Amino acid sequence: MTTRILYYNEGENPDEWLSALAAAMPHADIRLWQEGDDAPADYALVWHPPDELLRNRRGLKAVFNLAAGVDALLSQGHLIPENVPVFRLEDAGMAIQMAEYATYATLRYYRRFDEYERQARMKVWDMLNPEVREHFTVGIMGMGVMGTAIARSLMPFRFPLRGWSRTRKEMDGVTCYYGNDQLTAFLDGLRLLICVLPLTPETAGILNLAHFRHLGHGACLINLGRGEHLVDDDLLCAMAEGRIRAATLDVTSSEPLPPEHPFWNHDNITITPHIAGLTFCQETVSQIARMIAAFERGEELSARVDRLAGY
Ligand code: NAP
Ligand code: GLV
Repeated sequence: MTTRILYYNEGENPDEWLSALAAAMPHADIRLWQEGDDAPADYALVWHPPDELLRNRRGLKAVFNLAAGVDALLSQGHLIPENVPVFRLEDAGMAIQMAEYATYATLRYYRRFDEYERQARMKVWDMLNPEVREHFTVGIMGMGVMGTAIARSLMPFRFPLRGWSRTRKEMDGVTCYYGNDQLTAFLDGLRLLICVLPLTPETAGILNLAHFRHLGHGACLINLGRGEHLVDDDLLCAMAEGRIRAATLDVTSSEPLPPEHPFWNHDNITITPHIAGLTFCQETVSQIARMIAAFERGEELSARVDRLAGY
């Protein structure tokens, strides 16, 4: 029987995606979800789908999330039967972009380019004390696909690197910590904290004042996970205290960030509109076509989401 694929990708032009999907899976029957479509489908390929797409969908064998983070899809998890597996994107061209972004922002802070940019705007010619490499300890929260790519990309700069994950990890050149019991030791004295955690009930609000107070004085923050990891007022408070000197936020609790939000006008906060790791059509479609073929052969896929853990 022909494989029936239902596609919905909020905010993307469907033409490019539908033709890429058709080219990658020429024997499948691929359709764009339209309001009122309640016909059976074997696979749903989705990003921010309306509830109607998932609710009581007949024939569903698996759902593929068109992103790495599954927090939004799992908030609709009650619409996906327990026995229907959910898969996510693993890298699919995002890891290198996240590594570029994190490396750029890290070097910007380490070399104090943000401060030189401000000085230049005021025509100030003044040398600032350089940071000391051996003391510029960088901590990466989340040592999965994105976190390990970021760690690898930072290695040539020889900063002391730490990583934090839920389960024990080992990576050459990175001091690894895991679990809540080791969180404080991981944070202790960091000069730069990079968050690439998935958003789960355990990680929501983890970037908070109590945790910031373990960082070194004048530390920097880069959040590439989800906006809900950060308690916005706690960042402002940590910055007022001098605990955090500067922050780069690619994700915010409300997206787009509302014009009246104080982050926009803060001199030491850099905002980007959730572009650190973009989902590219060709890489995504090839990965999903490979996953569907492997799933049909009955293979276990590492991209399967642990719905209980939430990622
Ligand atoms: P991943 O491979 O599943 O890695 C997640 C990492 O977080 C793992 O190391 C995991 O620990 C750790 N973790 C999860 N819960 C934890 C907890 N309670 N305590 C400590 N560590 C915990 O995911 P990924 O592909 O790297 O993506 C991570 C996140 O990045 C996504 O969920 C998404 O939110 C975000 N993202 C953002 C963008 C963007 O454009 N800004 C793009 C892509 C992804 P274990 O290793 O022990 O499982
Ligand atoms: C983007 O934020 C993703 O989760 O892929």
